[in-house]
Amino acid sequence: MQGPVFAVTNQVPASAVEMLRQAGQVRVDERQAAIPRADLLELVAGADAVLTLLHDRVDAELLDAAGPQLRCVANVAVGYDNVDLAAAAERGVVVTNTPEVLDDATADLTMALLLAATRRIAEGDRLVRSGREWSWGMSFMLGSSLRGKLLGVVGLGGIGRRVAERGRAFGMRIAYHSRHPAPAEVVAALEAERMPLEQLLREADVITLHCPLTPETHHLVGEQELEAMKESAVLLNAARGPIVDERALAGALASGGIAAAGLDVYEREPRVEPALLELDNVVLTPHLGSATVETRTAMAELAARNAISVLRGQGPLTPVASQ
Ligand code: DGY
Repeated sequence: MQGPVFAVTNQVPASAVEMLRQAGQVRVDERQAAIPRADLLELVAGADAVLTLLHDRVDAELLDAAGPQLRCVANVAVGYDNVDLAAAAERGVVVTNTPEVLDDATADLTMALLLAATRRIAEGDRLVRSGREWSWGMSFMLGSSLRGKLLGVVGLGGIGRRVAERGRAFGMRIAYHSRHPAPAEVVAALEAERMPLEQLLREADVITLHCPLTPETHHLVGEQELEAMKESAVLLNAARGPIVDERALAGALASGGIAAAGLDVYEREPRVEPALLELDNVVLTPHLGSATVETRTAMAELAARNAISVLRGQGPLTPVASQ
């Protein structure tokens, strides 16, 4: 079939590839891990639209390797810190992402981290599997309860809101920090209090990060911020690794500066700060936020619809915020 060329940088659900096939020619790299740079540059050459994943660096080099006919980069992720937006804008390339469709899955995973961290699930699993002796006891492996605790949400966008809703269902109170106040109806439904970051860090029992990674949010939580938190506090990060200074976090967890953490993302992903691996009070998952069959399908299909819509001259469905 003739028609526009779509390059897809990794294996994605078949339904999305089929949508692209109906609209033009499709090149897919079927690997399930990040493809080597040279292969990536070769794959995109001559493409009219590219579907990228969060580990594909989309910069001037890639855009030029694709060529001047490129009109759309459809990132199969809500985050787009892997894309150089200025370089894309200079070349007239529309960038899209996949908001909303992954909010529930990522919020579920965040709650899983929260429960695992506060109830010592992974640590308990390791103990049972180790074959070491254990016995029920009044003070055996105690964790902390959620009811009545203050959940501090940093970034009350789609995912942050869903986490807050889940927190409410567990009896938690909600505070949030974000650059702009959340819509009044959201705040009212959550009975959420907006706080400066310093206050949120001081007062929250659980701090959960749901802001995008930008130069402003790089190391938003570092040594000083960890020091400001309660010793009983739990930190969750299912957003982007570099928002947290991982080395400082390992120090705070080891010294009892904070009680526990749950991480789904890493500063130098997929590498993890070695000191964290030694600690029992941190739960580590391998960037699984959106990893459900339904969600990944919805993400890939939305990216495909974005690419097709742009190439048909109908505009993007979900352009990234600054476009
Ligand atoms: C995203 O979409 O940005 C998520 O990190 C993917 O899981």
